[in-house]
Amino acid sequence: MSPEEAPGRTDYRALAARMGYASLRRRLKRQARYWFWKSLFPKDRFFMALLKASGFQARALANSLDFQIVRNMLPIPNLPPTFEGFTILQLSDLHCDLHPEFTDRLVDKLKGLACDLAAFTGDYHNKIQEPPDDSLRRMERIVQAVPPPRLAVLGNHDFIEQVAFLEHIGLPTLLNESVALERHGEKLWFAGVDDPHLFRSDDLVRASARIPGGAPAILLSHSPGVYREAARMGFSALLCGHTHGGQVCLPGGIPILSNVRVPRRMISGPWKYHSLTGYTSRGTGASGVPARFWCPPEITLHTLTHSPG
Ligand SMILES: [Fe+2]
Repeated sequence: MSPEEAPGRTDYRALAARMGYASLRRRLKRQARYWFWKSLFPKDRFFMALLKASGFQARALANSLDFQIVRNMLPIPNLPPTFEGFTILQLSDLHCDLHPEFTDRLVDKLKGLACDLAAFTGDYHNKIQEPPDDSLRRMERIVQAVPPPRLAVLGNHDFIEQVAFLEHIGLPTLLNESVALERHGEKLWFAGVDDPHLFRSDDLVRASARIPGGAPAILLSHSPGVYREAARMGFSALLCGHTHGGQVCLPGGIPILSNVRVPRRMISGPWKYHSLTGYTSRGTGASGVPARFWCPPEITLHTLTHSPG
């Protein structure tokens, strides 16, 4: 299958059965509206012109391609002993089509990074007004650069029609679904919700339906906005992105904008909310314009460890 063929291979009935009819309907309505407004007002061109005029374009681009490998300990209260030291590689907000150098640089940086699972937390596409074909071709190279098992969720820059191709290239996408990884008879659950930010097609109840009460479960979501519901439903951890850590920050990494209504401590890095352990990635790519200041892009390696609770 080629990226161009993916929309034609989209089985909406099957998607509705997976993510829920109401969620799919809401997503499709909002997708169409989003595409319309983005096509009418391509504000990224304005920001690009502004960046060029500022004289900082080269520095901003270099910063946006300077991937940092960030290591994070992820304490899980009910972690089975066989999963102690389990490593999750998190890539978020790739926006692959934003700059032509991005894919080569990232694939190079990923070489030799060992992990037990690769988690992709959304926003693979950037130029909403254009078909995602270029992004999907680039995603194929990035997905091949990390070993399976892999899991993904979609973000607010992604179209549901991308799923057929992503799954074809070996990136299972959790659409309000869950899956268990098994080691020596013990299970660690991963659930994933569709975009809760713009398309509001997330359904945590559906995503957790198969997970037994009290079982260790990690939620993947594009945005941290689901933190309250995730904690209430007993998830052990939440891995997310979306904020880009602010992307263009003040010195010291102080974000000017976060694009989500969550407590400030959840805009980037590790955080805690009641019993929920969370981590918000600053993102691996950049959105809108290839620019970052005082907020380097990250490739995150989470190591799971048992915590007393
Ligand atoms: Fe993003």
